[in-house]
Amino acid sequence: MDKSSPAIPVTPDNAIVWQNNRLFLLDQRYLPHQTDFVELTSAQEVANAIRDMVVRGAPAIGITAAFGVVLAVMQAGDQWRSRIDEDIKTLAASRPTAVNLFWALERMKGKIDSFEGEQITHMLLNEAKVIHQEDIDANHKMGELGSALVEGKTCVITHCNAGALATGGYGTALGVVRSLHTNNKLEHLFADETRPWLQGSRLTAWELLQDKIPVSLLADGAAASLMSGGDIGWVIVGSDRIAANGDVANKIGTYSLAVAAKYHGVKVMVVAPTSTIDMKISCGKEIPIEVRESEELLYCGGKRVGASGATVWNPVFDITPASLVDAIVTERGVVISPNSEKMSKLMN
Ligand code: MRU
Repeated sequence: MDKSSPAIPVTPDNAIVWQNNRLFLLDQRYLPHQTDFVELTSAQEVANAIRDMVVRGAPAIGITAAFGVVLAVMQAGDQWRSRIDEDIKTLAASRPTAVNLFWALERMKGKIDSFEGEQITHMLLNEAKVIHQEDIDANHKMGELGSALVEGKTCVITHCNAGALATGGYGTALGVVRSLHTNNKLEHLFADETRPWLQGSRLTAWELLQDKIPVSLLADGAAASLMSGGDIGWVIVGSDRIAANGDVANKIGTYSLAVAAKYHGVKVMVVAPTSTIDMKISCGKEIPIEVRESEELLYCGGKRVGASGATVWNPVFDITPASLVDAIVTERGVVISPNSEKMSKLMN
């Protein structure tokens, strides 16, 4: 992984950049205080970047992996046919929960399987760019659909970062927030800080402030108290995988937010493209939940904070049952009070 500084503007929409046949990622581990692009040149480097959180967020992981397949073929040259399956396996092993990763790799594999001719790199690059652009278009569509669900002006709580940085651009949950802001329907946005990676305080706050959308940070545990005041209308979040019955996997803490929302009569909107919906998985219990290293909790900002001797449980996603979700917003339409029947209707 090369830390070069290409002339790419540092904006949330430039988290994944293909430029002059090279792949650059805005390194999200150090935002907002450091704004470096890193260049990746192989499938292994892309897999490492996904695992190490250089790029994160379900759609962004899928798009990056698609470009990773292009790099794999470019690097292998004439040998690409004998190496590609292994490279795709390497990419697929990077993170387990976000289904967009496997969805994007399947799409690239489909192109490879049907390939006849000489321009494999050209064809795969084109597909990766289409995946990227489709995601941006889906986000704009979901932004409008989600905003239309909100009556009047509302205060919103979001969790993690489901914004431009986590997608091809514009964002899923934050796409709706952006649309609400544009339509003058956003009273105020509160963002959970999102321990331990602080996607809320580092990424969501940074990207919204770039767009001049005011944001207040909350410790994750403060959300229920905020809701009890009665001013919050909606919790709006993204997702890493949605099961066939509408159960939602998202950043750890989403479930407790949804439980608190139900108690306080606050509505819950999950915003995700159909590439996040896994119809092969019947319910949330079957979704693989990534458990990451203890160090992520024991240390904060490079400093040890956990008492020595303490053990750690660090699942980084949780499952919110469909019964706690008021609406799932996709680019194909909105599912109100999701269940298996409605999800199947959306996807068929
Ligand atoms: O661990 P992360 O930062 O990849 O987790 C990201 C999330 O949980 C997002 O909410 C989700 O991927 C949706 S992004 C549009």
